[in-house]
This record gives sequence, structure tokens and C-alpha cells, in this order.
Amino acid sequence: MAMRDRATSALARQLGHPRGPLGRLVGRILNRRNAPAVQAAVDALEVRPGAVLADLGFGGGVGLALLLRRLDGVDRSSGSVQGVDVSETMLAAASRRFRSAVASGRLRLHLAPVQALPMADASVDAAITLNTIYFVPDLQAAFREVHRVLRPGGRLVVGLGDPQAMARMAVTRDGFLIRPLDDVVAALGSAGLGVTERRRVGSGEDAVHLLVAARDQAGTG
Ligand SMILES: C[S@@+](CC[C@H](N)C(=O)[O-])C[C@H]1O[C@@H](n2cnc3c(N)ncnc32)[C@H](O)[C@@H]1O
Repeated sequence: MAMRDRATSALARQLGHPRGPLGRLVGRILNRRNAPAVQAAVDALEVRPGAVLADLGFGGGVGLALLLRRLDGVDRSSGSVQGVDVSETMLAAASRRFRSAVASGRLRLHLAPVQALPMADASVDAAITLNTIYFVPDLQAAFREVHRVLRPGGRLVVGLGDPQAMARMAVTRDGFLIRPLDDVVAALGSAGLGVTERRRVGSGEDAVHLLVAARDQAGTG
């Protein structure tokens, strides 16, 4: 394999599972690059006082920071944020960066996959997951798990790059599952998470897609 291909493959692996010093650097780059889309996802949650919020695949932690800030803005005394990621490197970095929120119980961090969330049934009011579903093989199983932990009527905002724009990027050829948007919407619907709104963040064909979904009021979907 040529050196350039090896570098592209290494970057793809880091995006799917950041590890070590390079993983920490990737996390910081993701934070800068993805902040506008993550902010728009947090806005779409319409956070209420006392809410339990979650970021599934928090990576460098920009979503955790924005969820904590939003919670502080609506209610400084109650509510909490749950962060879930499969990367030990990202978990360790977030534990350091948010040590006071962790110590106060305002933030809980979990090393777990979105397919097996370590939260109780109907315990989460609203969740975001951005740029993570590309690394989840069984999307319906993952969305069923999100459905389990969301309270009836709770929101999930899924953020993803434009599938066509992503398919043109060299880095996504290695280990990324790029799905048509309609397939993602269908997987959400089959899991009982009906899409109520679609938004774009950014300009041009690269603009990020946000799918705002609400958990059905009863049943398992
Ligand atoms: C490309 S980063 C995105 C991080 C952040 N959400 C953002 O938009 O900047 C993908 C993150 O998802 C995590 N991840 C990958 N597969 C996952 C899974 N099955 N469950 C939870 N997290 C996962 C990775 O460890 C990585 O931190």
C-alpha cells in the first residue's frame, strides 16, 4: 500500500475509534470542525429545565461542552449529561477536561457502544449523535437501544455528512458505512423514532444533515 493510502487508512481508523496521542489530536480537530453542526443539534433538542441529556459518540467532547452549557443556561441546579463513546482515549480526555462536572455528578461518562447503552429504560430526555453512525454496522439495533433509553416523546438528533459528498472523500473509503439519508430515516422509523424535521447546517452540498426524531409515546416501536 502506498504511503498516502496508509495515512488515509490510519486517519479513517482514528475517526472511527480515536487512540493515543494522534487520537487526542483528531478529537481536537473534530471539536473545531464540527462545533457549528453540534451546536445546531443541541439547539434542536429544545432543552427543558432538569433534563437528562446524552451525547452518543462524543469524540473530542464538543457536544458534552455544549450540552452542559445549554443545561446551565436553562437550569443550574438540576439535570445532567451522559456521554457515551467506545474510545478509551476520548473517555480519558473528557474525564480530564470536564473533571469538575464529573465530580459534581452533572456529567457521567461511559465507555460503551451505542448498541448497548448503560442507561436505564426511559431515563434520557434528549440525545444527540453526530458523525458516529458511519461506524455502527447495525443501525436499527442501535436506534432500538436509543429508543429504549429515551422517555416517550424524547428527542434524538442525528447529524451526518452528506452521503454523496462523503462518498467522494478518500478517507471514507476505509471503514465508513455511508448510507442514503432515506435509509437512516427508515431505520429510525422502524425503531420507533419518527423523524419530525430535517435541517442542513452549513452551505453548499457539503452541508451537514440533521435529522430530528421523536420517540413514540408508547410501545417498543
Ligand atoms: C468522527 S467521531 C465524532 C465525534 C463527535 N460526535 C463529533 O461530531 O465531533 C466518532 C466518535 O464515535 C465513536 N464511536 C464509534 N463507534 C461507536 C459506537 N458504536 N458507539 C459509541 N461511540 C462510537 C468514536 O470512538 C469517535 O469518538
